[in-house]
Amino acid sequence: MVMIIKKGNLPATPHTEFYAIPKVLALEEIHGSLGFNGPWSRKLHVRSYPTEQVQAPVKADFNFVCTAPKEADILQPFHVLTGDMPTEGDALQCRKPIVFSPRTVVSILKPKKSFPEGVFFRNGEKHEIYFVQEGEGILHSEYGTLPFRKDVYMVVPKGTTYRIDLKSKQAYLLLIESVYPIVFAPHYFNKGGQATLMSPVVETEIETPELGKPIDKRGKFPLYVKHDGGKVSLLTLGHHPFDLCGWEGALYPFVFDINNHHGVARAIHTAPPHRQTFQAGNVPNNGFSLCSFKPQMEGWHPKDIPAPYAHYNVDSDECMFFCNTAYGARKGILQVGSFTFHPAGLPHSPQGKAALQSLAARAKVSTHLAVMLDTHFESLSISSVGYAYREKDYALSWDDAKWSDTPEKTVDWQSPSE
Ligand SMILES: [Fe+2]
Repeated sequence: MVMIIKKGNLPATPHTEFYAIPKVLALEEIHGSLGFNGPWSRKLHVRSYPTEQVQAPVKADFNFVCTAPKEADILQPFHVLTGDMPTEGDALQCRKPIVFSPRTVVSILKPKKSFPEGVFFRNGEKHEIYFVQEGEGILHSEYGTLPFRKDVYMVVPKGTTYRIDLKSKQAYLLLIESVYPIVFAPHYFNKGGQATLMSPVVETEIETPELGKPIDKRGKFPLYVKHDGGKVSLLTLGHHPFDLCGWEGALYPFVFDINNHHGVARAIHTAPPHRQTFQAGNVPNNGFSLCSFKPQMEGWHPKDIPAPYAHYNVDSDECMFFCNTAYGARKGILQVGSFTFHPAGLPHSPQGKAALQSLAARAKVSTHLAVMLDTHFESLSISSVGYAYREKDYALSWDDAKWSDTPEKTVDWQSPSE
């Protein structure tokens, strides 16, 4: 995150004496990424170091280790119907990975409940970004209180200690984890670290945690930590983890509304990079690009074809989560919550007569909403859960025979928004 912010009370000079409680020396911690070289934050604990454990760590009675079914060892595209997955459990344990690699994991969470009372979680191996398809709640962390709602991304840096409390009766979340920090696409920023005036994102439109008073409380505080490929260990802290009197820096949880991705249009069809909001790693050499397909003007060239071309990005696995069914290139296939996974070994394209039908959408504002993830030089595998909820025979969904009854004439491919 490029915006450096400061919350609460800290000494003016780093690593100097500071007392938030009279006669009790506050203790400093650096939460950093990329060794000591990436974005970091300085956190000031009122009394205790974050290392204090009062019971021996144990293996948790759950984990997030991913497995892939043998039957999926055939090159094929997948369509996972996440809308059919059950709403059950709490926001801690209900995460269900659907595609994964050692560096990237994509999961669906459909909780009915908040984290169990008094319990905390930390992802010790991957940075996280949630996309909220449905529901609202609050991310409580040592950085403060961060409300979330439908249609927002919520970035949670690796190592953040947090809990999720729902305000809605249930929620529907897409979660992407990365070993690399998840940041706005760096090429949107000038050398001073500010988003350029041509950028689709404006860094000041992020929403940051509100830091309340430090919780200076002793006791036994259970903390589940995910580590080493999805294993989970249970630690017991001797003091409440939300004990900061202040923090400053560039590594912290934040919310960004997908509707604040300000699309850049041109006269002819534009390739997805203009839809990129975030990235992880050193794109395009590793990591992934995360794109926001939000409503925007289709090409207005008098002969523009709004439907995309077939594309064969040989270095990228492409995943797409569809928030609605307005994406014309695959109309009739997609459902709300459809998750497509197109591996790098295959091209993909619109179906049947979608290109012809799309002509009616020329120069109109689309209504589709989707989140796309393209990995770079990294193959994903479908998990057992993803495989169980797949649409069978999805690989045959481009068969021309399937679309032979589609009218030749152009239709209103994507209704214009108001
Ligand atoms: Fe694609």
